[in-house]
Amino acid sequence: MVRLKHVAIGAVGLPILILLGAWIGFFNVGASSGHWKVTAWFLQFAMRSAVRTYALAVDAPKTLDRRGLPAAAGHFARGCAICHGAPGQLRSPAVLRMLPQPPDLALTVRDWTDAQLFRIVKHGIRFTGMPAWPARDRDDEVWAMVAFLRELPKLDANEFRALSFDGSDATGSDRQPAVPDALADCTRCHGSDGGGRGGLVPALAGQKEPYLIASLRAYAKGDRTSGFMALPVTGIAPDEMAALARHFAALPPVPGDHDQIPAETISRGQHIAEVGIPEKNVPACSGCHTGPNRNPIYPRLDGQHAAYLEEQLKLFRSEGRGGTQFWRIMATAAQRLTDDDIRAVSSYFASRSEGPQ
Ligand code: HEC
Ligand code: HEC
Ligand code: HEC
Repeated sequence: MVRLKHVAIGAVGLPILILLGAWIGFFNVGASSGHWKVTAWFLQFAMRSAVRTYALAVDAPKTLDRRGLPAAAGHFARGCAICHGAPGQLRSPAVLRMLPQPPDLALTVRDWTDAQLFRIVKHGIRFTGMPAWPARDRDDEVWAMVAFLRELPKLDANEFRALSFDGSDATGSDRQPAVPDALADCTRCHGSDGGGRGGLVPALAGQKEPYLIASLRAYAKGDRTSGFMALPVTGIAPDEMAALARHFAALPPVPGDHDQIPAETISRGQHIAEVGIPEKNVPACSGCHTGPNRNPIYPRLDGQHAAYLEEQLKLFRSEGRGGTQFWRIMATAAQRLTDDDIRAVSSYFASRSEGPQ
């Protein structure tokens, strides 16, 4: 009987004691002295177990798509290296005093499976400062980052720079851009020729200015979501956006992909582009997307990377791609396209490098 009474007192008393301890400030929340060993062990144990368990529900692709490496590397240089460091890049002493300290990922990624890395990068880790991916529902971008993390341990400082910085300095050219700092950030992914580095970063060169401005505004307002574009558009003033759009629109279009694509795929794509699929109510794409007289807010697709076009059409199809006030036109058209249609029409437009604007 006495024992039961003690347990009851303990059950009520302990939480009160802990609450009282917190109220008088007994628990040291300072990061300077580190965690108690047992706390540190428990937090790591809980984090690793949670990642392992939640990653069981992640459907990892058999092979990681490497076409997004330049975009992911560009994002890593600005969005991740500040905490995790990068080849040839020292971290600020302030970051090294974070608790827990962000690990050097080149040394730790081997401990995780692809699915586990996906889980961490997509959702972040609570109570540690490790942020979630800046855009929801962009699993394609998170997978591109996982592919990059797999490369990271193999890269030396020069290779990392080449992958993440385009190797060239846009600000050093004889064209004096209106906003050199912002432009240097854009070219790390879009290239100083505006051609788009890797298959998943769109070419901007020769795209019409109104479409570029409207798209930048859509990213800034959150009407179009992309983790890769979220950082670059943050803090850019409206007149800087206009200057950047003008800059890229004035660059001459560059030839797109030269993948070997079967002729019958291209001709199927050409048919969809020029005639549409009347039995499924799919309109001809060319009416809006080609020719010098089209509405300047309708994007040019000629010579655009096939992988990028495919990804955008799939996003439209699942309503994961907003954009300008006209995005719904595309969602309706894309919902009637099969994967094969998408591949064919994307390959067709990508192959039209020399097409008129
Ligand atoms: C504000 C600092 C910060 C930023 C920015 C950040 N991280 Fe982290 N990250 C952390 C911290 C802290 C941990 C350690 C968590 C722990 O040990 O519980 C971590 C852990 C990780 C891990 C698990 C590694 C391991 O072995 O424990 C991965 C993978 C990771 N981050 C990837 C990224 C990527 C990719 C980005 C950029 C998109 C990024 N992080 C941006 C702070 C950051
Ligand atoms: C980290 C890489 C990265 C950086 C830096 C970057 N972009 Fe992008 N950009 C992308 C990717 C990837 C996409 C496609 C995103 C999507 O799926 O919506 C994109 C899309 C765009 C689009 C839409 C193009 C279209 O055809 O719809 C515009 C416009 C754009 N970027 C302009 C810029 C400008 C201007 C800057 C500099 C302020 C910049 N980007 C910096 C990677 C980047
Ligand atoms: C009635 C006009 C119209 C028709 C027809 C049309 N589109 Fe579009 N398309 C648009 C508009 C407008 C946008 C820009 C949407 C936005 O970002 O807000 C767009 C965007 C796109 C994009 C994204 C480009 C980029 O740079 O991000 C692709 C890919 C695309 N369309 C493919 C197609 C295909 C394939 C067809 C034919 C099956 C088609 N479109 C038919 C108006 C049209």
